[in-house]
Amino acid sequence: MRTLNAAIIGCGAIHACHVEALHQTPDVTLRAIADIDVDKGQRLASEYGCHFYSDYQEMLQDATIDVVHICTPHHLHKPMILAALAAGKQVFCEKPVGMNMAEVAEIGEAENRARGRVGICYQNRLNPTSQALRSLLNEQVLGNLLSINAFLTWSRKAPYYSESPWRGRHATEGGSLLINQAIHTLDLLQWLGGGVSRLKGVVDCARPADVIDTEDTAMATLTFSGGATGLFFASNNHTRDAPLQLDIQCERGELQLRDNTLWRITDGKRVAIACDETPYSHSKSYWGIGHLQAINQFYIAVRSGTFEGLTGLHEAAKSLRLVEAIYRSSQLRQWISLPE
Ligand SMILES: NC(=O)c1ccc[n+]([C@@H]2O[C@H](COP(=O)([O-])OP(=O)(O)OC[C@H]3O[C@@H](n4cnc5c(N)ncnc54)[C@H](O)[C@@H]3O)[C@@H](O)[C@H]2O)c1
Repeated sequence: MRTLNAAIIGCGAIHACHVEALHQTPDVTLRAIADIDVDKGQRLASEYGCHFYSDYQEMLQDATIDVVHICTPHHLHKPMILAALAAGKQVFCEKPVGMNMAEVAEIGEAENRARGRVGICYQNRLNPTSQALRSLLNEQVLGNLLSINAFLTWSRKAPYYSESPWRGRHATEGGSLLINQAIHTLDLLQWLGGGVSRLKGVVDCARPADVIDTEDTAMATLTFSGGATGLFFASNNHTRDAPLQLDIQCERGELQLRDNTLWRITDGKRVAIACDETPYSHSKSYWGIGHLQAINQFYIAVRSGTFEGLTGLHEAAKSLRLVEAIYRSSQLRQWISLPE
């Protein structure tokens, strides 16, 4: 089997998850990394035994690179995806795919013209608990879905924003809590609930504008396409990164996600049916455990040329559309309807 050559743009907090996953993916070599921080980039390149570029455009000219991973601030996703596609590369980009739906449309046009495909990292869909939930709901094991409530409380202190100043800024992050941390939760909500048809939401910020000029807290009431209801609350103002809590009510029982364990409650009996464990070191438990699997799956798709079932642009757009709808609803103080 031919070895596929990978490259990473952006060597910050998340990139180590990609490096570790690449090391565990068969017949894949990390050929190069790019970062504007030359000292850090050179140090990491010598640790990984790969080339270093301070200019990612120059790295894209290396014809031996097959797949480019984008792990940079949000405002750079679109230009970097476009450049990588134009250079004939396959692209695996961290969420969100872009800052807004207009950017997604532009990327979609470029992808239609390109040889390469774009995969987006929504690794939480691959958690054992998410997979178990999805099949229980799809197969209607507990009858029709009535409601899903999601509660996400994490801690992001001032240094989190000051150490990477693109964070917490509309211009560079495109929002904050919703588009960065809670986008995974919104993705799970719409993926498990079968799509959201309308929502009413509110965003707020409890911190001074010199720390962040966007939101650190948000909530929304949702209606799913099949008629079930949803409640969503997320905040970065907790004292710790608590595991996501989900409460799912169906006609004949309930499902609960607590402390990364999925419980099924029927006839007053609570039984654990799936659990997420962190298998490798660079992944923080609250990021979920799916990076390795998501990256593995992308390389299998690149080899086979079949990208069906992966989180591509169309799938990634669904949670970004919810993020935009909550911002708009909060601004207009109105319900927002979403396309099917
Ligand atoms: N999937 C997840 O659970 C998860 C978790 C954390 C972060 N992320 C995502 O990963 C991405 C990066 O986040 P982070 O927290 O690692 O950011 P970070 O600030 O820690 O790192 C960003 C890196 O990009 C580099 N960079 C900036 N401009 C560049 C340029 N022009 N060319 C090359 N490199 C450049 C910076 O020097 C820095 O090393 C974001 O999209 C974020 O939402 C995803």
